[in-house]
This record gives sequence, structure tokens and C-alpha cells, in this order.
Amino acid sequence: MDVVFSAMRPTGRLHLGHMAGALTNWVLFQDNYDCYYSIVDWHALMSDYADPSGLALNSREVLLDWLSVGLDPEKCAIFIQSHVTEHIELHMALSMIAPLGWLERNPTYKDQILNLRNKDLSTYGFLGYPVLMASDILVYKANKVPVGEDQSAHLEISRELARRFNNFYGRNVFPEPETLLTHYPKIPGTDGRKMSKSYGNSLDIADEIPVLDKKIRTMMTDPARERRTDPGDPNKCPVWDLQKFFNDDESQMREIPAGCRTASIGCIDCKKMLIAHVTKRMTPIHERRAKFAGRDDELADILADGAKKARDKAGRTMSEVYDVLNMPKQ
Ligand code: TRP
Repeated sequence: MDVVFSAMRPTGRLHLGHMAGALTNWVLFQDNYDCYYSIVDWHALMSDYADPSGLALNSREVLLDWLSVGLDPEKCAIFIQSHVTEHIELHMALSMIAPLGWLERNPTYKDQILNLRNKDLSTYGFLGYPVLMASDILVYKANKVPVGEDQSAHLEISRELARRFNNFYGRNVFPEPETLLTHYPKIPGTDGRKMSKSYGNSLDIADEIPVLDKKIRTMMTDPARERRTDPGDPNKCPVWDLQKFFNDDESQMREIPAGCRTASIGCIDCKKMLIAHVTKRMTPIHERRAKFAGRDDELADILADGAKKARDKAGRTMSEVYDVLNMPKQ
């Protein structure tokens, strides 16, 4: 059976971009693959090492978001990276063979150092970000990794490290993980830019309906529609992108773009329809979130079970790793 691994860093509540792009697919994979989904706190620490005060709470928020959208601990392993120390052990083994050049040339590494100027990322740990990522994946011998385009350079390094390890030690310990390319609908933020917490333009999964309602009502539309009577172009409107994800009413989906182009419907009408669909989709998600949020014991059990399942698999891989490295365990 194919093994799927994916992960998110616990940096706070997730937004509709995460839901549409990643989580909806993760939920589908649970039924067809052996899935491991990890909240990667060590990865968050690589950039937030100066202030880890939010880590535990942020991990809890991510867990709640995951459960609320339908990740099912009966079907997949859901766990915190630091609870499964095998990730760190493999990270050490892969560090030995990871050429500095591969890491220094990694385009994401260079970007992040330039973009996150308020953090000093010229650390030993941060340079090894892709090595830890490779360890996350390879410790489960995962062969399918659903990630966005922005992670493809990292995935390439994972494959190269798998190949290099196998070559060095003359055994096919690791399969080469492939990117599981999935449908990524475009989910812009309220200002039309990419949805991102740091831009302050996000619609969060946990936002209550009145909050979502307000954010959508004040959302930017095609700037050409200054007055109600000005025609617009749906392809220039971020609300239309959200309609495509949330609106499953076929006749509305014909009426809206036609009405926008001829100004027979206004942006407010269009947004009202969207809000109704968002409400319908998000209400059961919020109900699940509220249910789990009141049960800390259950959350702890879910994480403990997930870590156990993960450790079983990761432990078997590490036995092989120690074996090929000629480091027999007592
Ligand atoms: N780097 C990923 C991100 O920022 C998170 C991540 C860590 C990951 N380890 C992974 C994703 C392994 C896929 C596989 O989003």
C-alpha cells in the first residue's frame, strides 16, 4: 500500500487556503493510503527558536483545525513531530551525507533568509530544514507526499538524499518519495493577494460565521465595478475564486459570471450567495471543532495513539538504518 506523509508547521490557526489546497485532499487520501500527518514543531522552531512560547498552543490549534475538517484519527496517524524521536535520529544520519552545496543552493533557503529579515536564520539548524523534512518523509518510507509547488525544491532534496543513502550503504532502504500533485484551487485573501496570515487578509477555518460574513462583505472585488451599474470581469475578482470552491449550485454558478459581466447582479448579491454557501460548508466544521475543543483528554489520546502508530513504523525503519550504518543496538 502506498504510504503518504505530509505535515504543517504549527504557526497558528489555519485558513481556507490550507483547507482548499491541502486538507481537503488529505481527507480523501485517508481512505486509500497509509497516511501519516504530522504537526512539525521542530520545523517551526527552526525559524522561531527565539520565542517558542506559542508552540504548544499553536500545535493544539492546528490539531483542532485538522480534526474539524475531517481528518480521522481512526484512519490516519496524526501526531506531533517531537513525540516521535526517530525523526531526529534519521535527521542525524542524513546530516552526515547531506552535501552543504545542496543546502546552500536551495532556493527556498535563500528566499527565506532574505524575506524574514526580522529573524536571524543563518543558523546551523535552519540550513538543515530540508534534511529534517527528508527525515520526516523517509522514516515512514513514504512514497507519496502531497505538497504545494513551493515545496518542490525540498522534495527534490529528499529524493537525492534517499538515493545517496541507498548508494552509500548498498541497500535500497528508502524509496524515492514523489510529489503527489493535487488540485490546488486558487484561494486569494480578502485583498486579492495570496491568502496569508502575515498579510492580514485571511479567512480562518475557525473564524465564526459572523466573522467570515463580515470579512467577505468587505472583500475586494473587480475594481472596474465601482458602481453597481458598472460591469465586471469575474476573472479579476477574488470573490469569484471563492465561489468556485464553495458554491455547488450550478445555476448560480452560471448566473453569477454572466450577471457580473452585464451588471445585472451586484457584488453584494454575489457575496450574499457566497456567504450562504460558506455558512453551509463551515457550520459542521465549526461544530466538530467546538466538540473537540472541550475535550483535552481526547486530544491527548489522539496524539498519543498517532505517535504510537508512527513510532511503530519509524522504529522499524531506524532498525534498518542502524544496521546498515554498522551501529548495532544493544
Ligand atoms: N516544509 C513544509 C511547509 O512549510 C512542512 C513540512 C515539514 C513537510 N516536513 C514535511 C511537508 C514533510 C511535507 C513533507 O509547509
